[in-house]
Amino acid sequence: MSKSSESGSIDHILTEDRLFAPPAEFTDKAVISTNEQYEKLYAEARDNPDKFWGEQGKEHLHWFEPFDQVCKWEAPNAEWFVGGKTNACYNCVDAHVEAGRGDKLAIIWEGEPGDTRTLTYRQLQTEVAKCAEGLVELGVTTGDVVSIYMPMTPELAIAMLACARIGAIHSVVFAGFSAESIADRNNDASAKLMITSDGLYRRGKVLPLKRTVDEALAKSPTVKTCLVLRRTGGDDTPMQDGRDVWWHDAIDKQPGTLPATPLDSETPLFILYTSGSTGKPKGILHTTAGYNLWAKRTFQWVFDHREDDIYWCTADCGWITGHSYIVYGPLAAGATCLMYEGAPNFPAEDRFWDLVEKYKVTILYTAPTAVRAFIKWGDEHVDKHDLSSLRLLGSVGEGINPEAWMWYHEKIGGGKCPIVDTWWQTETGGIMMSPLPGITPTKPGSCTKPLPGVVPAIVDEIGNLVDSQSGGKLCIAQPWPGMLRGIYGDDKRFVEQYWADVPGKYLTGDNARRDQDGYYWIMGRIDDVINVSGHRLSTIEVESALVSHPNVCEAAVVGRPDDLKGQAIAAFVTTTGRECNDEFLKELKMHVRKQIGALAQPDDIRFTSSLPKTRSGKIMRRLLRDVAAGRELAGDTSTLEDLASLAKLQQKD
Ligand code: PRX
Repeated sequence: MSKSSESGSIDHILTEDRLFAPPAEFTDKAVISTNEQYEKLYAEARDNPDKFWGEQGKEHLHWFEPFDQVCKWEAPNAEWFVGGKTNACYNCVDAHVEAGRGDKLAIIWEGEPGDTRTLTYRQLQTEVAKCAEGLVELGVTTGDVVSIYMPMTPELAIAMLACARIGAIHSVVFAGFSAESIADRNNDASAKLMITSDGLYRRGKVLPLKRTVDEALAKSPTVKTCLVLRRTGGDDTPMQDGRDVWWHDAIDKQPGTLPATPLDSETPLFILYTSGSTGKPKGILHTTAGYNLWAKRTFQWVFDHREDDIYWCTADCGWITGHSYIVYGPLAAGATCLMYEGAPNFPAEDRFWDLVEKYKVTILYTAPTAVRAFIKWGDEHVDKHDLSSLRLLGSVGEGINPEAWMWYHEKIGGGKCPIVDTWWQTETGGIMMSPLPGITPTKPGSCTKPLPGVVPAIVDEIGNLVDSQSGGKLCIAQPWPGMLRGIYGDDKRFVEQYWADVPGKYLTGDNARRDQDGYYWIMGRIDDVINVSGHRLSTIEVESALVSHPNVCEAAVVGRPDDLKGQAIAAFVTTTGRECNDEFLKELKMHVRKQIGALAQPDDIRFTSSLPKTRSGKIMRRLLRDVAAGRELAGDTSTLEDLASLAKLQQKD
């Protein structure tokens, strides 16, 4: 299990020196099977990116009209495949039908209650075209933003692809976010139409999604129409006349023949909101051609995709992992994807292993937080199942601690499956650093090496390149096709956030070091972003939610190490007009849940009479992190305005 202190687990990672070579039988059949092959691709992409990506673009995407310039780069603005016309939905769906592979399964789906459905590429084409026709009939056109808040049903992927088909921009909001969060995102993006479902199954219960959406739509004036999928049934779904329309009424009747619209390469494909270092989530913008190519090629390289694979990414489409590695990457590569709707422990803790056995999954891509939960639930759930179909395992969302890595390797992979620890971000569009499973000897806890096209640089506080072995801020020095094109509607923030510190280089927000073998080790964030179960949250976002409660004066939120979640949310609050008791504590947790969503609910809340601050009034988060983790107070406290407040906080431990 992970170490109980932050510094403990980092020390552990730093002293990790085990090396696991890919099994020879894996390498023999691998897409990239020699180091020379990788070195050649890497050198070409770094030294002659226009030639390299020009060839990649031509070969791996369909073009209605060819591009005439590979990359137009004037930092921080990139345009890829300028002058070309393509369509991400065409690349993911129609291209396979055209190539005579229409009968191949694209999606194998299982709902939480156990209902199942399969879609061949041809069937997917019809379903996507029908949805696109329905959207057009409801008034959606190229450039409109469609907000999607849905369970993990095939219709979620269909809705995303339908938007891509007509050049509408999807903004998927994870179905665990609150009405407030949906409304904020709808308003920021001026969404015109929203797609949701009546309900969602979660651990056997039905959550009324549409009711949450109704609350959000009361505060989303730009949304004129709401398309509602019947998923859970029952007659009590409120439908507002003139605004709400059932999916089965609007979509089922459509002919399903609408072709994909040829779109300029840089046509916005989607916006996905993610937390930054301020309170307001950022709408990360990705565009059509470059993103689609990056998702496809990184999928093929990292997952060593072969024709007969059954690939399962356990993420939700509400996050970037679902966008790139459930929809746009694997489908562009013509893969067969398993999609699962529900919880990993329903009806029992062996649900994932039951699915792997039932569908003979060959590639599994999941998150360290899930692996840690499986360890906790016990080996007996794994032992019940035959997992011999697996040949490759993936990890994403946070660094995988060596102990979890070893368990994943031995217990799930039977000691024979390489593990690809993939480092990337919402902003990068796809995987940036990862082992290539046929060639890269892996070190537990390291995401190993950059993929072709990724040129990392490690810099110090003022942007100078540093001796990378001691570590520093991780930047990317060269544009790559999948890079974000901006923050929707906020060019200023885009520049400030990612490009101001080190001119011309993309600042990732992570610290990293590079060891003597050229392997990268991600050392955590440099900003006030915390990583809770692989999900990004800004501490300031949670603080704003807390202070919006009338009885909270001030709040400080920090991450503290957690064996299961990686980081848990610890909050310190000063209050007024209320007794600081358990009831108030529960109310505050619920308040944050309502403001942001269940994923942001603090694990600990401590009441305090004041917060430790510097003389200039800044909250001393470093100290609060130590207090929250139960650590000895580290570092200099001489600038503390009120040492007494800190002493009080400590007494609580
Ligand atoms: O801090 C890094 C961490 O997750 C951040 C990106 O979060 P998000 O945009 O939500 O995307 C998550 C899925 C790609 C990064 O800045 N992170 C992600 N993967 C890893 C990681 N940290 C260490 N190792 C990883 N493999």
